[in-house]
Order: sequence, then structure tokens, then C-alpha cells
Amino acid sequence: MEQTRRPFAGPPLTPRTAVLWSVLRAELDRRGDAELTVLDVGGGTGGFAVPLARAGHRVTVVDASPDALAALTRRAAEAGVADRIVAVQGDGDALAGLVEPAGVDLVLCHAVLEVVDDPAPVVAALATALRPGGAASVLVAGRAAAVLGRAMNGHLEVAAALAADPAGTAGPRDTLRRRYDAPGAAALLTAAGLTVEEIHGVRVLADLLPAAVADGQSASLVELELALAAQSPYRDLAAQLHLFARRPA
Ligand SMILES: C[S@@+](CC[C@H](N)C(=O)[O-])C[C@H]1O[C@@H](n2cnc3c(N)ncnc32)[C@H](O)[C@@H]1O
Repeated sequence: MEQTRRPFAGPPLTPRTAVLWSVLRAELDRRGDAELTVLDVGGGTGGFAVPLARAGHRVTVVDASPDALAALTRRAAEAGVADRIVAVQGDGDALAGLVEPAGVDLVLCHAVLEVVDDPAPVVAALATALRPGGAASVLVAGRAAAVLGRAMNGHLEVAAALAADPAGTAGPRDTLRRRYDAPGAAALLTAAGLTVEEIHGVRVLADLLPAAVADGQSASLVELELALAAQSPYRDLAAQLHLFARRPA
């Protein structure tokens, strides 16, 4: 008898991940019962890979860190999905040698483009890995939130440097190599041949509230993050920007 896949419930929504999961859930629902081939570049310890594997999809995680991959492997075993996850140590720049071209239904690249040497070849590799019609979920650090955050903490010179720097960094001691606004991030994906379908702000408010307030009202905060994510100007002030794009069929 043919097995019917249940609608993807996903992990419990948190203010930091609710928007991402709501966009991904829409794509999984759109694909119905299909078992998807997923590639998570810089997937780390499997915060997305494991829930997707639990939903019945096959996930390859490519990450540069052996420690992250070891944690992913443990987590996958504990969740009973070790047979659905492949962990590959490798560089996002060199996906071509690691992943079959045009073989992936959904590629994730979350919080990676701001730390790699050069984002353009990574995005080109994501696009090449996708089947025509396949989707990309790309999460990048937001520039405006970083400027406001530094200023609100009293670091006005750092805020000014960050606002003036073309890459959106605060100098050599910054942990990130670049930050994005929505047009800049969209242009990066478009240049690789992807069609950007949606852009959302992730963590519009989550990082601004005192922990006691955020923890005490988590459900309300999730609702508010979901409500504000696509709305200007809130979207553009979010700590991260999420782009959902597609390789043309
Ligand atoms: C901030 S973590 C994000 C992890 C995960 N994507 C998430 O959103 O929770 C960045 C990850 O990218 C990985 N990474 C950094 N540079 C990379 C590269 N050039 N190729 C592949 N992975 C890389 C790191 O090892 C780390 O696991």
C-alpha cells in the first residue's frame, strides 16, 4: 500500500525560527507526498536537517566543521533518522565535487554567506545543485539591525563604521565578513540565475526584547514575528533576512 506523508508539523516554533519554518512548510506542503532530496550547506549541527529527515526527506549536510558534523551525526541517531542524513565535510565553495548537479529539490544555506571567503561562488554552486524548479532557502545577516544594535548599546563609532562600510562590517575584529540589505541579497541570488520569490525578516523583535519579556510571552512573540516578517519597514530592520528563491523550471 502506498504510504501517505502527513502534513509537515515541524519542530515547535520559536521567535527565532518561526518565519523560516513557515516558509519551508509552505514549500513542503506544495510538494505534497514527494520525498525530497535536500542539501543543507553549512548545516551545522542539524537544526534544520533533523526535522526535515524526520518528515521523511533525505538530507545531505555539507559543513566545514568536523565538530558540527559529529554533533549532527549524534543528533540524527538520537532522532532515529541516521539513515536519512548524510554528513559531508567540505567547503561550500567546492560543492561541485561533492554534490550531483541538478539533483536537489531544496537547498538550505542559513547563516553561511556572511562568513565564507566569497559568497558568489557558493550561491552559484547552490543554483547548480538544484533541479530546475527546485527551491533555495537562504538566510543572511541583516545590516540595518547590526547598525541599530551597536548604536543602542552605546557603541556609536562602531555603528557609524558599520553603516559606512560597503560590506556592512565593523572592521577587522568583526566576526562576520559582510551583512546584507534586501536588494543586495536578492541581487546575489539573481546573479546566480535564481528567481527570488519571497523575502522575510527573521528576528525583527526577538533580539530587542529583554529575555524575561521574550521568555514570558513566547507564543505572542512568535505571532508578532510572523505578522511583521514581510512588512516594510519591519522586515528590513530584522537581524536576518530570509530569501526564498527558485531555479527556473
Ligand atoms: C552560524 S553556523 C549556521 C549553522 C546552521 N546553518 C544554522 O542556521 O543553524 C555557520 C555554519 O557554516 C559552516 N561553514 C562556515 N564556512 C563554511 C564553508 N566555507 N563551507 C561550508 N560550511 C561552512 C560552519 O562550520 C557552521 O556550521
